[in-house]
Amino acid sequence: MTTKNMEQAFIGECIAHIKYIAFARQAEIENKPNIARLFRAISFAEQVHALNHLKTLEEIGTTEENVQNAIDGENFEVEEMYPGYDAVAKLQNEKDAVRSIHFAIESERIHSAMYIKAKHSLREGEDLNLGKIYICTTCGYTAESASPEYCPVCGLRGKEFAVF
Ligand code: FE2
Ligand code: FE2
Ligand code: FE2
Repeated sequence: MTTKNMEQAFIGECIAHIKYIAFARQAEIENKPNIARLFRAISFAEQVHALNHLKTLEEIGTTEENVQNAIDGENFEVEEMYPGYDAVAKLQNEKDAVRSIHFAIESERIHSAMYIKAKHSLREGEDLNLGKIYICTTCGYTAESASPEYCPVCGLRGKEFAVF
């Protein structure tokens, strides 16, 4: 029972973490910087809670196990979850959902490929040989080494990508 509860608590804290980021952005748009800061700070606290809960669930393995876990998750999204959701959203003419799903699935394919590369490096006992990673701040499109001039998925200018 406690394991189930901690799984639910983990999901709830993850949701609160992301929701508060969105709420902070909205408060910034409404020119309420202190309320935005409050949302951002508490969002961080919810992240701490989520990470603590996850630790109790013993789902964090070695890096080799974690990379495999990530590959499985990304592949599930690309092969099963999003194609099904996409079909339903199109059937119901839910245009916003169709676009959001499209943005996600295009990135998840790349994530899976990048993690597979990481898995091969680990097999050789090496860290991954990795250039800078560029993430589209509109759709999440993920590129290595250089940002494109324009995002191939959503058209955002490459210089507005986040760099890691
Ligand atoms: Fe919390
Ligand atoms: Fe992903
Ligand atoms: Fe994009």
